[in-house]
Amino acid sequence: MKEIDIEGRESRSRILVGETLANLSGYIPAKNVVIITDENVKALYGHAFPPFPVITIGMGEKIKTLETASDIFQQLLDMEAQRSTFLVGIGGGIVCDITGFIASTFLRGVGFGFVSSTLLSQVDASVGGKNGVNFKGYKNMVGTFNLPGFVICDMQLLKTLPSRDVLCGFAEIIKHAAIEDAVLFDYLEAHHEEALALDSGVIERLVHDSVTIKADVVSRDEKEKGERKKLNFGHTFGHAIEKTKGLPHGEAVSLGMVLAASLSVKKGLLSKDAADRITRLLELYRLPTRITWERSAIVDALKRDKKRKEESIQFVLLEDVGRSVIVDISIDELDRAMDAL
Ligand SMILES: NC(=O)c1ccc[n+]([C@@H]2O[C@H](COP(=O)([O-])OP(=O)(O)OC[C@H]3O[C@@H](n4cnc5c(N)ncnc54)[C@H](O)[C@@H]3O)[C@@H](O)[C@H]2O)c1
Ligand SMILES: [Zn+2]
Repeated sequence: MKEIDIEGRESRSRILVGETLANLSGYIPAKNVVIITDENVKALYGHAFPPFPVITIGMGEKIKTLETASDIFQQLLDMEAQRSTFLVGIGGGIVCDITGFIASTFLRGVGFGFVSSTLLSQVDASVGGKNGVNFKGYKNMVGTFNLPGFVICDMQLLKTLPSRDVLCGFAEIIKHAAIEDAVLFDYLEAHHEEALALDSGVIERLVHDSVTIKADVVSRDEKEKGERKKLNFGHTFGHAIEKTKGLPHGEAVSLGMVLAASLSVKKGLLSKDAADRITRLLELYRLPTRITWERSAIVDALKRDKKRKEESIQFVLLEDVGRSVIVDISIDELDRAMDAL
């Protein structure tokens, strides 16, 4: 087990990579604990939860709403939860986002921690303190920044995860390597077979390095004013593709990274060889790298992107594998570049 400590401005978070659900009791109070999970995770792992009341939510983005939050508040009141109540979210990014939001707002804030059960939530959702719910179809519209006390990343839980969800987690790991860590990128190339087979040692290293990269970037920029934007590599195109094509987030981000790397080549920042290496790595991890292009729909979605500042859009581009920059690109220039992509 490896521990990564994140010092937030207001609190501290311990990320426990390779710790197990079985040891959860060692990290939570002896009483006044409430567990929040979803139906899938409860069916698979409920037998291993410590003996506390459990609030169970449904699955999917449509459940990540204020209505679900309101339901949970009601159940907490019915249980006579208090300021001293400690909440534990056991599940993927959706359970963690909702649990963090509830814990940050119920009685103006109670203690909370996570057991992260998807690769995506281990490497992304549980680091950085963002939480929240969707509102009227807009993703993550309402929420707070607040770090969980701890996050247990239990590799054994990943064995039951559908493979499409596993691959989406790899997309975010590849993103972290591409923007910040050439050594991790080499490791991903060399160990793709073990990684895809969910070899515990290899996954532990990937989660550890990925969390470290995200934690470093976030600690330098906790409230997303500047450098944290680097974590959006592949996401500007990715969100547009996700919306127009209805692909899972990680697959859309994979395509977004290919496009952002091509744009980097087009701008003379990145070599063609380095861009090809990124495409090849995504292919090794069975992620999509080509789409049939509905250019106008994607450009429209890009123009509506919330990271747009007036007549330009902010993109994260690469100067090399492991080195990224944030660049403003005008809509005109983007239109022209899209012709060539
Ligand atoms: N807060 C952040 O910084 C941040 C970052 C990235 C993503 N997110 C959010 O995370 C969410 C996506 O997270 P996700 O991909 O983990 O999705 P998810 O929570 O929906 O989990 C995916 C599916 O896997 C099931 N599942 C979870 N653990 C399992 C296990 N061990 N075995 C079998 N099935 C399991 C779930 O029930 C669900 O059906 C999105 O809502 C996204 O906005 C948040
Ligand atoms: Zn993402």
